[in-house]
Amino acid sequence: MSLFGFLKSTLLSKVVMAVTGVIIVLFVTGHTVGNMQMFIGKETFNTYAAFLQGLGELLWVIRIVMFLSLILHVITSINLALINSGAKPVKYKVKRYVKAKLTTRTMIWTGLMIFAFLTYHILHFTAGTADPSIYGHMESFGPNGMFERHDAYLMVVQGFQQPIVSIVYVVGVILMGFHLSHAIQSMFQTLGLNHPKYDAMISKGAWIWSVVIVLCLISIPITILLGLVGGSV
Ligand code: HEM
Repeated sequence: MSLFGFLKSTLLSKVVMAVTGVIIVLFVTGHTVGNMQMFIGKETFNTYAAFLQGLGELLWVIRIVMFLSLILHVITSINLALINSGAKPVKYKVKRYVKAKLTTRTMIWTGLMIFAFLTYHILHFTAGTADPSIYGHMESFGPNGMFERHDAYLMVVQGFQQPIVSIVYVVGVILMGFHLSHAIQSMFQTLGLNHPKYDAMISKGAWIWSVVIVLCLISIPITILLGLVGGSV
């Protein structure tokens, strides 16, 4: 491959990673805000879950965009990692030039572990196959309990009342936090939104953003395990 073609593909990979990264970060941030409704109570959380299910076709659009973003993100990260490790036949000079912070070894490993965690998470709470005993309970609501909807609150509570499940989630979310704090900084860099004057601020902001997301998400399994949330369901 010509030097130009190589740089172009590397640059293209980095841009694809950054753009899909933005989509994923926005989704995770929105998902975290939505999940915080667990602390308001069963009624609010189940109304929110029913609202998501009621999105119908739009929900499928979101799912497809998320799925494609994740797949593209993983493929391009592997491509960049191979280039950086020299597994591809590239000239040494070029390899040094493109050595990117974006694809450090930690990022690849935390990324792969997040992928495994996410697969489990979807089988657990969306498909309901990882633990069928917590899935599919219905809740009556409305005047005289005349309507029925999926009891997502009960599913989350029963899921996290199992210590091993909560531990898996806490570890998975903390790994995601490490990945996010590096990723958000790299995203700014790749998209050209960085500036020496603001780099320290961006790096601090990325760290604070990740820590807030991690603390919010892990507070759900931890408070459930401690019996502070959902003890009465
Ligand atoms: C303690 C942490 C988390 C909790 C309590 C939680 C809760 C949930 C729940 C209840 C659902 C099912 C929604 C429904 O079908 O009604 C869900 C789906 C999902 N979650 Fe999470 N989540 C957590 C962490 C994460 C993280 C860290 C990610 C991303 C890396 C993530 C990504 C997703 C995705 C992609 C779906 C599938 C959405 C769909 O297609 O319906 N979640 N989550």
